[in-house]
Amino acid sequence: VRTLRVEASNGSYDVHVGRGLLERARELVPVPESAENVALFADENLDTALVGGVLASLRDTGLRVEFMQTTGESAKSVRCAEEMWEWLADKGFHRGDLAVALGGGVVGDLGGFVAATFNRGMPWVVLPTTVLAMVDSSIGGKTGINLPQGKNLVGAFHQPRAVVADIDVLETLPEPAFRTGLAETLKHALISSADFLRRLLDERADIGAREPDTLEAMVADSAAVKVGLVNRDPFERGERAFLNYGHTLAHALESTGGYGVLSHGEAVAIGMMFAAYLAVELGYADRTKEHREALEAFGLPVTGARHDFETVALAMRTDKKYDKGMRFVVLEDIGRPAVVRDVPDDAVERAYEAVR
Ligand SMILES: NC(=O)c1ccc[n+]([C@@H]2O[C@H](COP(=O)([O-])OP(=O)(O)OC[C@H]3O[C@@H](n4cnc5c(N)ncnc54)[C@H](O)[C@@H]3O)[C@@H](O)[C@H]2O)c1
Ligand SMILES: [Zn+2]
Repeated sequence: VRTLRVEASNGSYDVHVGRGLLERARELVPVPESAENVALFADENLDTALVGGVLASLRDTGLRVEFMQTTGESAKSVRCAEEMWEWLADKGFHRGDLAVALGGGVVGDLGGFVAATFNRGMPWVVLPTTVLAMVDSSIGGKTGINLPQGKNLVGAFHQPRAVVADIDVLETLPEPAFRTGLAETLKHALISSADFLRRLLDERADIGAREPDTLEAMVADSAAVKVGLVNRDPFERGERAFLNYGHTLAHALESTGGYGVLSHGEAVAIGMMFAAYLAVELGYADRTKEHREALEAFGLPVTGARHDFETVALAMRTDKKYDKGMRFVVLEDIGRPAVVRDVPDDAVERAYEAVR
């Protein structure tokens, strides 16, 4: 087991990464003194025995444990949040009780948001079950739901009390979701360290085969990149924005392409490739070859943007991260991210054409 420590101004907690951890949920989930009840929100697609094991382990605490299932991006909605708030109220939950989210980024964002808002906020714990959730979404306390107008438009910062990432659950993860998580893992390597990137490439076969020890090290090192950024910048006023590497174009591709056409990971892959070309336009080191090599090694696309530039540029201008002009994260070199503003339109267009 590797344990990382988040020490942010709005909350401190452990992130455990290892094998066989969910069987030990009772020991690793810190139950607050104040809790009489535990609400377990679980993804519907998880193995029944696994969910049963977590339930049993939580019941060993002697507290009453109630259980609710949900799944899918469409669950990150006001309607589902409302159902969960009312369910908690019906079951007699209080501010001192504990919520536990067992699932990928969807269940984490939704369950965390419900925990952030029910009774003005109750403690919560995340048990991430996708690579993306383990290395990215479960860490840092961003919770939220979507609106028809856009993704993640309603939410709250609410740090969990612990993150327990059990590598064994990744065995049943469908391949597209696995690959999306790898795109974020590559993102963490690209923005933090050429050595980390090299190691991922060296271990590509074991990673692809989901060799558990390799995945454990990969997840822990990737999560550590996020923990470091969250510790330094919990409310995303500065360098936490580096985590948006590749995401300005990715979100535009996802929203213009129709959801489901490109997975998030594929869109992020194309977005990072675009950012590598943009860096060249801006006079930084040419790392397009390194990007292409890394993305292709993990079966991720490096081209495939389909729309004309005008459509995509419009979508990028309406991005949530828009801040008095388009912003992009580019790499001055591998491991050296920077936020750039006021990028000339023709430079953006040339970089875009390179990934079309
Ligand atoms: N809060 C943040 O900081 C943050 C960061 C990045 C992404 N996100 C959010 O995360 C979400 C995406 O998360 P995701 O990629 O984990 O998707 P997801 O939660 O939808 O999970 C992907 C698919 O895998 C299934 N699944 C999950 N774990 C499984 C397992 N162990 N075995 C079998 N099936 C399993 C799910 O049912 C789903 O069909 C998006 O909504 C995104 O906005 C949030
Ligand atoms: Zn992402």
